[in-house]
Amino acid sequence: MTQDELKQKVAQAALQYIKDVPVIGVGTGSTVKYFINYLADMKADIEGTVSSSEATTMLLKQAGIPVLDLNSVGTIEVYVDGADEITPHKQLIKGGGAALTREKIIAAASRKFVCIADGSKRVDVLGKFPLPIEVIPMARSYVAREMVKLGGQPVWRENCITDNGNQIIDVHNLSILDPIKMEQAINNITGVVAVGIFAMRPADICLVSDGENIVTF
Ligand code: A5P
Repeated sequence: MTQDELKQKVAQAALQYIKDVPVIGVGTGSTVKYFINYLADMKADIEGTVSSSEATTMLLKQAGIPVLDLNSVGTIEVYVDGADEITPHKQLIKGGGAALTREKIIAAASRKFVCIADGSKRVDVLGKFPLPIEVIPMARSYVAREMVKLGGQPVWRENCITDNGNQIIDVHNLSILDPIKMEQAINNITGVVAVGIFAMRPADICLVSDGENIVTF
């Protein structure tokens, strides 16, 4: 199976978690794109969605699926999103698509976070994928210097402005042995808007397509 077929397969597997769920949180990325295609087929049963990015909002609207403001929705029953890395403890790195801050907000506001990914995203230790951090633009160099102190090599993602008008640095060569501690430490750096470690609020269910099988944990 190609990677795209694996993404499509795992996106389909997420449908069992949104039966009778009126409002669904929708993530961002190429795996979620397939999920949105499936949502389009069942839109009559959906009251609405809460979107994690402008890109996802566009896809949802093109598919004729209502997009709601999180402020008017309250707690979201189920949030479906991809990831860049997934540990056996369901802790994640996210933000490859620069949508990490809104993704984190939706994860926080959701009862159940269902993470969907192809098998290439599974790791034992987070950090091989460069860790995305959304920063207030004027704080970029300061945050980068602080990340060097934490052992990483920050690279500015040039030509990338987030949906919130901020910038992204990708931190290479971190071996994140204690994801909760690292998430807290980075959150404490002034100028950081959000870090792409999802450990304090990990996924609740991970679906990973591994060849013909979907592994659930
Ligand atoms: C978006 O900012 C990310 O968090 C995505 O969820 C993540 O990059 C996974 O994307 P793919 O499904 O495209 O691999």
